[in-house]
Amino acid sequence: MTRHLFAISALALALAACGQSPAPAEAPADVSTMPAPAPAEPAPAAPVAATPAPASASKPAVVADCATTIESNDAMQYNVDAIAVPASCSQFTINLKHVGKLAVNLMGHNVVVSKQSDMAAVASDGAGAAPEFVKAGDTRIVAHTKMIGGGESASVTFDVAKIKDGGPFMFFCSFPGHMSLMKGSIQVQ
Ligand code: CU
Repeated sequence: MTRHLFAISALALALAACGQSPAPAEAPADVSTMPAPAPAEPAPAAPVAATPAPASASKPAVVADCATTIESNDAMQYNVDAIAVPASCSQFTINLKHVGKLAVNLMGHNVVVSKQSDMAAVASDGAGAAPEFVKAGDTRIVAHTKMIGGGESASVTFDVAKIKDGGPFMFFCSFPGHMSLMKGSIQVQ
C-alpha cells in the first residue's frame, strides 16, 4: 500500500515536471516570426495610379429629339459626363432619373447648367439655400431641375441659344459636396 502510493506520487511528479517544460518554449517561437513582412509595400502603388489618364469625355449622354435622360445614383454619380446638344434644336430637355434609394435630404441630386467659370460660385451660393440648394434669382444659372431623392425624376427645358456663346458650359449637382464628382460638359454641336 505505501509502496503503491509512493509510486503514484512519483509518477505524478514526473508528469508535472514534464508538463511544465514545454510551456516556456512556445512563447519565444511565435514572437520571432511576426514582425518581418511589414515595410515592403509602397513600391507597386505608383504605376497603378499613373494609368487612368483619359477621363475627360468618356461617357457621352444619348441625345434624341432634342432631349436626353441621365441617371444619378446613391454613390453620388451621374452616368454621363458630357451632353452634346444638337445645333438644330431651339430648345433642349434634360430628364434626370435618380436610380438610387436614399432620401433627398441625404443623397439629393439635381442638374444645374451654368458657365464653367460660374460653377463654383453658383454651388457655394446654393449651399445655403436648402432644400433646393439653388440661390433664388441666380442669373448665372441657365437652367436647373428640382432636387430629387431616390426613385424620383425631374426635368428641365431651356433655350439652346443660352448656351451657344460664352462657354464652356457645364452641368452639375448643387447638393453640397456633390459637384466634385457630379459634373460634366454641355455644349452645342
Ligand atoms: Cu447630388
